[in-house]
Amino acid sequence: MGVEVRTEGVTKSFGSQRIWQDVSITLPSGEVSALLGPSGTGKSVFLKSLIGLLRPERGSIFIDGTDITTCSNKELYEIRKLFGVLFQDGALFGSMHLFDNVAFPLREHTKKSESEIRRIVMEKLELTGLLGAEHKLPGEISGGMRKRAGLARALVLDPQIILVDEPDSGLDPVRTSYLAQLLIDINAQIDATILIVTHNINLARTVPDNIGMLFRRQLVMFGPREVLLTSEEPVVKQFLNGRMIGPIGMSEEKDEAQMAREQAMVDAGHHHGGAEEIEGIIPQMKATPGMPVRQAVIRRRARVREALHTLPHAAQVAIRESLEEDNDDTQVMAAYGSDQSSILNKGH
Ligand SMILES: Nc1ncnc2c1ncn2[C@@H]1O[C@H](COP(=O)(O)OP(=O)(O)OP(=O)(O)O)[C@@H](O)[C@H]1O
Ligand SMILES: [Mg+2]
Repeated sequence: MGVEVRTEGVTKSFGSQRIWQDVSITLPSGEVSALLGPSGTGKSVFLKSLIGLLRPERGSIFIDGTDITTCSNKELYEIRKLFGVLFQDGALFGSMHLFDNVAFPLREHTKKSESEIRRIVMEKLELTGLLGAEHKLPGEISGGMRKRAGLARALVLDPQIILVDEPDSGLDPVRTSYLAQLLIDINAQIDATILIVTHNINLARTVPDNIGMLFRRQLVMFGPREVLLTSEEPVVKQFLNGRMIGPIGMSEEKDEAQMAREQAMVDAGHHHGGAEEIEGIIPQMKATPGMPVRQAVIRRRARVREALHTLPHAAQVAIRESLEEDNDDTQVMAAYGSDQSSILNKGH
């Protein structure tokens, strides 16, 4: 099972610029979480802090129980092997062709033979749709291909924690759907703890088990998907609907007067810029039929059931509905004598 990632009161600044403060978050082991937030709120800085590339000046970061803000360099080196990271810019070595880029962590961190390395690299290239491009240089392929090559490289060490920074940027909508399905399937197969940073509303609505949001130097919210997807918190609602109306502006936060003026315009019929509001919440994407059952779903169900009474009413309703849907599945299963895995994995 993937390992738990937990931060306690972390604060990060660059010089006098405070990026975020007092962020406490627990990514439940083996579950898929998403981190949202307007551009510049420090999502990438947060990911880099989780693997110890940047050091917050306050707070602790526990990876599988070890505080990486105080551990030795040797321990940090070992802990980094648990991670597969896709950086926002792909971070490929420009002078190496894709094969060597993807093989790099295997050559760096393992003593595997070249034939074994070849087997793994080709498998990951196939998984990310890059077979045939292995001898190309990063400069010779499209942005979306670079992104997928970065993902292939993030997966070669069979990581227990996968951090992906805007995996969908530069991908067309169809490939974004494939990528979303790939992340869910990887989670079903290896039960890794996954954190996805994304601006893609559709991905945020359908993929993660848990969602968090950074805004105004704070973690505004983090919780089960149903909590954020039904939230009335203005910044969460604005973001998940891609609207101009709300506290988030183009370059900076808006003041109250500005927000009131805009709301008056919408009330007078001006378009709010986003999509039409979606009633209720879209069911979560499931693993492809034939894949193992996602253990994360089962664990999360138990966890959420226990905490149900502490959640907002709308979230409780949404969770009850999804639990009922699962029960329906179980009944169909019993009726047809089918095994659990094939039914619980029915695709959407
Ligand atoms: N190494 C660094 N040194 C100084 N400032 C930095 C450094 N890295 C990031 N920053 C600053 O930290 C802030 C947050 O940057 P970050 O890249 O984490 O934002 P983000 O939320 O990932 O944005 P986007 O959605 O556009 O990718 C920015 O103001 C950026 O300029
Ligand atoms: Mg970023």
